[in-house]
Amino acid sequence: MAYDFFINLGYLVGAIAFVWGLRLLSSPDTARRGNILAGIGMGLAILSALFTREIAAPSNNYAWILGGMVVGGVVGGFAAKKVKMTDMPQMVSIFNGLGGACAVLLASVELFLMYKGTTAPASNGQLGIILGTVLIGGITFTGSMLAYTKLHGSIWDNTFVLPKHNLINNILLVGLLAFAVYLFILGSAAGTTLGILFLALALIYGASFVIPIGGADMPVVISLLNSFSGLSAAAAGLIYGNNMMLVGGILVGASGTILTVLMCEAMNRSLLNVLIGGFGGGGASAKGADGEQIAKEVSLSDAAIQLFYSQSVVVIPGYGLAVAQAQKIVKEVDDLLSANGVEVRYGIHPVAGRMPGHMNVLLAEADVPYDKLLDLDDANNALKSADFAIIVGANDVVNPAALDDPGSPIYGMPVLEVWNAKHVIVLKRSMNPGYAGIQNPLFFHDKNRMLFGDAKDTMTKLASELKGM
Ligand code: TAP
Repeated sequence: MAYDFFINLGYLVGAIAFVWGLRLLSSPDTARRGNILAGIGMGLAILSALFTREIAAPSNNYAWILGGMVVGGVVGGFAAKKVKMTDMPQMVSIFNGLGGACAVLLASVELFLMYKGTTAPASNGQLGIILGTVLIGGITFTGSMLAYTKLHGSIWDNTFVLPKHNLINNILLVGLLAFAVYLFILGSAAGTTLGILFLALALIYGASFVIPIGGADMPVVISLLNSFSGLSAAAAGLIYGNNMMLVGGILVGASGTILTVLMCEAMNRSLLNVLIGGFGGGGASAKGADGEQIAKEVSLSDAAIQLFYSQSVVVIPGYGLAVAQAQKIVKEVDDLLSANGVEVRYGIHPVAGRMPGHMNVLLAEADVPYDKLLDLDDANNALKSADFAIIVGANDVVNPAALDDPGSPIYGMPVLEVWNAKHVIVLKRSMNPGYAGIQNPLFFHDKNRMLFGDAKDTMTKLASELKGM
């Protein structure tokens, strides 16, 4: 009795550490601590699970378990150390996929042991949970792995899209659900062959579901798959009656779902619209792509002089800032301007970059004070009275077509209205479009001047011009 009490106490403290860790993640100042706390909670949960009666039985498998933990720990630790900030979505995708793989493996083992008669037939409730876990875990595994290859660029968008692909997917999903009900009715009499077919179809559906989704929508899909991985872990927790897995899975499932909804809101699109595509892959161009218009440039020294003598500047960071790793030099330019009395603030679009909070993390890394960061609404207000908007490697999130071109694929997405500032300077390397693959009429706007080059390089030169003033 006392033994079980201590195991459950371990789970409870672990669960509290998860919840508290999540809470600390909500601010950049405390996020690091939150991560460590949640990690400690996970360590405690694993330790408690290792001492449960089932595992600590005389025929225990500690050698296998510890071997797996060492391999997983080394690979995970090495990958986390090596991963570049810009590759984080890929890393998250792999983690989601592995979570799904664990769940689908556990549930499949239970299912096939039952079909082979090695274990007693599961109760109705258990069987339902096992089938559900095979389904969600399988979809999460192949879906996440395909999302990884897409993000990594090994598979290009639309490579394997079939005609009427979304219709095929819907039929497959309905078929899978009907199949699950059939297996449920058959119980342990269904047999191994049908079980394998079900598993294979779940795996195929996972990949087929992700294939048609456009590049710019991948972060939403990853967040959705993240919530699926949480659900599958929670379902696996139900199979084994493990409360910790259940709590952890529910937390991941709920936070992934909330994040998915927030991202869709930030893009002003419904989840259904994201899932059935229509944004990203197309490359439809907005006005300004006709080759007639010419984007005007500004020289470095002119830009430096104008910024130096301005009163307020709003910096708009985007994915290019992350690629160039320009955050520290941006902060240096900020310091130089601020020392001359210029008010420098940052306009943060919720989907700038390639993952939620991407810009916040980068700017926090460069010690930019958090109170200089303005959210979308505050930034749009600040832009109305700003002398300059400097766009550092952003594109889609400052595209006016989102507001005034109903034919644009991003029409309806709230954007940073940089053209309301008195002057605009865009730092990027070329006239290439952003991740949504569409032209940006801002570049041809009267108020705008292009400052071509790598963002870090340009900012470094700008800083040395400012130092010379
Ligand atoms: P993007 O629209 O992708 O534009 C980034 C720009 O950075 C590119 O046009 C590129 O132009 C420039 N760039 C790349 N490397 C650079 C470098 N070294 N130096 C200077 N510039 C560089 O980025 P964004 O404005 O941040 O928008 C994010 C996109 O992701 C949106 O489409 C959004 O909907 C999508 N999305 C994001 C999320 C999250 S959670 N962040 C979620 C869903 C969707 P050059 O190649 O010419 O340099």
